[in-house]
Amino acid sequence: MSVLGILSYTLEVPDIEEGVRFYENAGLISDVEGDVARLRCRGQDRDVIVLLGNRPAKRLHHVSLRADGLSMIERVVPEHGGALVATPEGASDSGLWVTDPHGMLLHLSDAPADPEPAAAPPFEINAPGRLVRKGRSAMLASEFYSAVVPLRLGHVLVFSPDVPASVRFATEALGMGLADHAKDVLAFCCARRNSDHHVLAFAKSPAVGFHHASFQVNDPDDVGRGGRALVEKTGRGDWGFGRHTIGSNFFHYIQDPWGSWFEYYSDIDHIEDYAMWKPTNYELKDSLANWGPSVPDDFVHNYEAIPTFDRLPRQMNDQTNARTPKD
Ligand SMILES: [Fe+2]
Repeated sequence: MSVLGILSYTLEVPDIEEGVRFYENAGLISDVEGDVARLRCRGQDRDVIVLLGNRPAKRLHHVSLRADGLSMIERVVPEHGGALVATPEGASDSGLWVTDPHGMLLHLSDAPADPEPAAAPPFEINAPGRLVRKGRSAMLASEFYSAVVPLRLGHVLVFSPDVPASVRFATEALGMGLADHAKDVLAFCCARRNSDHHVLAFAKSPAVGFHHASFQVNDPDDVGRGGRALVEKTGRGDWGFGRHTIGSNFFHYIQDPWGSWFEYYSDIDHIEDYAMWKPTNYELKDSLANWGPSVPDDFVHNYEAIPTFDRLPRQMNDQTNARTPKD
């Protein structure tokens, strides 16, 4: 029994049109019916985001995970501080609805795996002693590039009042693996087979909440190009272009209409067999970025925790901002 991957996330939001506009600008396709918006990646025929509109404030409703062994999960969830709950009104009654020890709602279903994505063109880099591209330019004039589109949802990071407890639930009740963590502040969980470095991650905060969702694009150029375009279209704040230490992915985050974040990523670590992976406990200075711009003040602020105002832990922010990329 175990989680095999992430399917989607659902947010309650005050203004559904604002959310749809943001995600369409990010390259997703929408389908709106009344107060419900469903968004999907081009090339996929399933939802990756659901917005429930006309709600008082933005709030994480639930995260949907693909899993097998649902009957076993159903048995062990209550033993690990979770609960089996009724299907929310209007939601799919297939699979299993559970809450974790902090009341975060999860939907587990044995949905089929997504088809393997088409192979992207190789991202070639001429390096000292390793010339892979000769006699031609890497880059075309900007007008030759079409808009960047997210290929698939890779992971979601949620806030947790007790990160180690969230990890225990994810690993012991849901059969996930702890890929890496930074003290008791951040933790990254993966599926145990053929997984991105993380599919569900946790950041410390007084309350449950949605921090960011991350979408894979073809290569680092698309991370930078897509991120810059979304900043220009929306006028919102951003963090990136940069590269994470934990997970190794290139990133560019753009703030969504509710203060949480949308991430484009490329080149995340892959865990083929969790039994062969050794988790690392990183220092807080390595928890956000290996290199990148200064971290926005409210990057780790949980706007769903009312009225608590939990700024980025000082040690994380100071040390990350003190680092500058080397030329
Ligand atoms: Fe991320």
